[in-house]
Amino acid sequence: MPKIIAMAGKGGTGKTTTTALLTKYLLAKKETPFLLVDADANANLNELLNLDVGLTLGQIRKELKGELPAHITRDQFMEMKIHQALIEETGYDLLVMGQPDGPGCYCAANQHLAMTMDKLADNYKYIIVDNEAGMEHLSRMNLRSIDYLLVTSDPSARGILTAKRISEITEPLGLQIKEQYLIVNRAPQPIPPALQEKIDEAVTDTGMKLGGIIPSSDTLINQELSGESYVSLDDSAKVIQTVNAIFDKIFA
Ligand SMILES: Nc1ncnc2c1ncn2[C@@H]1O[C@H](COP(=O)(O)OP(=O)(O)O)[C@@H](O)[C@H]1O
Ligand SMILES: [Mg+2]
Repeated sequence: MPKIIAMAGKGGTGKTTTTALLTKYLLAKKETPFLLVDADANANLNELLNLDVGLTLGQIRKELKGELPAHITRDQFMEMKIHQALIEETGYDLLVMGQPDGPGCYCAANQHLAMTMDKLADNYKYIIVDNEAGMEHLSRMNLRSIDYLLVTSDPSARGILTAKRISEITEPLGLQIKEQYLIVNRAPQPIPPALQEKIDEAVTDTGMKLGGIIPSSDTLINQELSGESYVSLDDSAKVIQTVNAIFDKIFA
């Protein structure tokens, strides 16, 4: 059974950045193979990894509703299509969810998706889900038991409050979370004492532990601008060492 790692956090707080940096980390540690799931409707994890996206699960769901080729069951069709949609890289695969369902429940398609995910899951050591702010995709993929929930926050009082709320909605969503970590991103250095207080409060008031604090980094900004993969970031960069130390602590 793979370990499930899920990102959560308000838009723009660093979920995709953290996922790309985790990709680099797991590859370096040879914790392979793993599956990345881009569960953001506005998929952009592939950009940080410099990969092209073809077929998305949203498109497959649409095809499932239409006429299928003869002599193929919906399960077989879904399985075949998901394999087509997998972007296969050395050490990991990427699956892009794409646009969500419109109104109404395409329950059958979701059921097929969940079943196919179950089968696929066994191939991997980790499944890492880069969510959008909501976490509905997790249940859609039948991922109800999360080993690590990483909640990213910007370095503001309201940001930390949102992170607390996100941590608290996991229960009503029916998600079982084994470990939750708060990651404060783009932080000024040194951390203002008032911010540190908010962070301490969030950790005391919720099930979250402090994963760590990632400084605001020109290295990351320039890497994104260059269009090169985050996997190729220099290991000696300070931000990489900071982030790796955070992952070492979380996944020890
Ligand atoms: N530590 C950081 N330092 C500088 N820029 C960052 C940092 N983390 C994220 N960013 C930038 O902030 C923006 C939003 O980050 P992103 O990871 O896409 O957030 P999310 O996935 O939560 O919406 C991106 O342009 C990213 O390059
Ligand atoms: Mg994102």
